[in-house]
Amino acid sequence: MHFTHLLLSFCSVASTMAAITPRQIPSKAKCLLDAGLGEAVLVRGDPQYAEREASYWSNSARLSPAAILRPRNTKEVALAVKALAAAKQPFAVRSGGHTNWAGSNNIAGGITIDLGFFNTTTYNAATETADIGPGSRWRDVYSELIKHKRAVAGGREGNVGVAGLLLGGGNTFFTARRGFACDNVVAYEVVLADGRIVTASKTSYPDLFVALKGGSNNFGIVTKFTMTAIPSDKVWGGMAFLPKDIAPQAVDAVVSFTNNVANDPDSNLVAMFTHMPDFKDIVVATLYANMAGVEKPAAYKEWLALPEIMNTVKNTTIAEMAFEYNIPANLHDIWFTLSLKNDARILNKAAELHVKLVEDLKAFIPEQTFTTQCLFQPLPTVFGKNSVAAGGNIMGVERQKSNGVLFLATAMVQTPEQEKKAYPLVKTWVEEVKKFAATIDGGLQEWTYLNYADKSQNPLKSYGPENIRKLKATAAKYDPQGVFQKLVPGGFKVSNL
Ligand SMILES: Cc1cc2nc3c(=O)[nH]c(=O)nc-3n(C[C@H](O)[C@H](O)[C@H](O)COP(=O)(O)OP(=O)(O)OC[C@H]3O[C@@H](n4cnc5c(N)ncnc54)[C@H](O)[C@@H]3O)c2cc1C
Ligand SMILES: *[C@@H]1O[C@H](CO)[C@@H](O)[C@H](O)[C@H]1NC(C)=O
Ligand SMILES: *[C@@H]1O[C@H](CO)[C@@H](O)[C@H](O)[C@H]1NC(C)=O
Repeated sequence: MHFTHLLLSFCSVASTMAAITPRQIPSKAKCLLDAGLGEAVLVRGDPQYAEREASYWSNSARLSPAAILRPRNTKEVALAVKALAAAKQPFAVRSGGHTNWAGSNNIAGGITIDLGFFNTTTYNAATETADIGPGSRWRDVYSELIKHKRAVAGGREGNVGVAGLLLGGGNTFFTARRGFACDNVVAYEVVLADGRIVTASKTSYPDLFVALKGGSNNFGIVTKFTMTAIPSDKVWGGMAFLPKDIAPQAVDAVVSFTNNVANDPDSNLVAMFTHMPDFKDIVVATLYANMAGVEKPAAYKEWLALPEIMNTVKNTTIAEMAFEYNIPANLHDIWFTLSLKNDARILNKAAELHVKLVEDLKAFIPEQTFTTQCLFQPLPTVFGKNSVAAGGNIMGVERQKSNGVLFLATAMVQTPEQEKKAYPLVKTWVEEVKKFAATIDGGLQEWTYLNYADKSQNPLKSYGPENIRKLKATAAKYDPQGVFQKLVPGGFKVSNL
């Protein structure tokens, strides 16, 4: 591969009669060459380097690493970690590349380990499990599993990567039945800081097993996830768009849907107030999905009675939905999150402040090319109960005192300048929602969802004292030199607790 590449670049240079510049391997990647990984190294100027940078979901996350390493197997990951640790070379770990903010999954001037080649899914009928590569996209996972009439509790948007979602928790179509995505992982193959390859499960490295269920990239690089397979064939669902003037009824419908999740754990709801360039206005957009394939189940009664602009609901499969439900890439993205009490007053406040945000954005983005989302998802107490029943994770969601709503606040804009101006506006919006929620008894719930959190938030800190103690102890035990704290600065760090 390396050789072909040299040839190709030689030919193109020769044909333009320009000066021949040999492919320069930066000194920062020298330790990788010495470890025999030269063929897996991409440097600036390589077409594949540009392709991999372009494959990040968010423009905001596109940094310029000195080199990208694309290991082809677990042994190469182990060699790389050992070499980088010995050379004290800072690095980043990237799977799907969907975290929006700069520096979580990439590193300016350092080495980015890109797990894109780890993209296979294998169903094992004997154990009713699926082995899934960290760099897979959920749509490819579902396409493979549907051949066996199976699914797993994974992402709902097909482009999203496997590892980040699973290591940060994962809210899925199956959370009301089976807990979070991470609660469905039965084994992790992990490369530890010293290059050891271990398998963490309920019976082997059980402390590491639990810490990986929400603890993100603090303990090692996961090279394989084994998940419980779930029988799945036809499901019913799709998107519906509703006019913005039904906002108060939509809030009431979120609240009653959330209070009813335990009665119909197969029905799912994602509801948002969203400004979209297509509408040049705010609309209400919802994702309905019933995992048992029941058409228009009673859980959506209030929703289906509201006036609609259009909908795409139908009998379908999870695999098909993962292809159809896509949030646009290649924008500058700002995401914040809170967990709120399931109380209409709080949701209405968030929605009102969202209207104000949209007006503020229009002031400097007059052509209205921006997208915002004031997004609500049920976070009923049954989610945390399911996690505990599945063996427990490290997120502490079960400490919730009442049903909640997972609130995601986003703005997605076209340019870095717009991002810079929009960021403080979104931040203020979320702070005001937080302040308002705190005036209501139990209005602000502690848990902060890592996979939706902004860099300025500290989700690990929201997991509660007992889980914080476990996170620290596990990081110290499996990574005594602090490789994943000091040399891997990206992501949410145990060392910031
Ligand atoms: C369009 C869109 C839709 C989404 N839908 C959902 C949804 O339905 N449910 C939900 O819960 N979340 C959802 N999310 C959030 C999603 O879970 C996170 O963005 C998640 O981090 C994506 O995983 P990734 O592999 O692409 O992450 P990356 O950005 O590649 O990585 C995320 C973090 O994990 C670390 N990491 C990556 N791979 C590994 C590894 N193999 N070992 C150790 N650490 C690693 C990285 O260093 C980084 O800090 C969505 C996000 C987007 C942008
Ligand atoms: C996995 O990645 C390789 C290399 O990028 C690609 O050719 C292949 O199609 C991918 N497989 C899947 C299932 O996406
Ligand atoms: C969808 O599936 C249900 C149950 O299997 C069936 O009763 C219904 O007629 C189907 N609807 C359409 C539009 O195909």
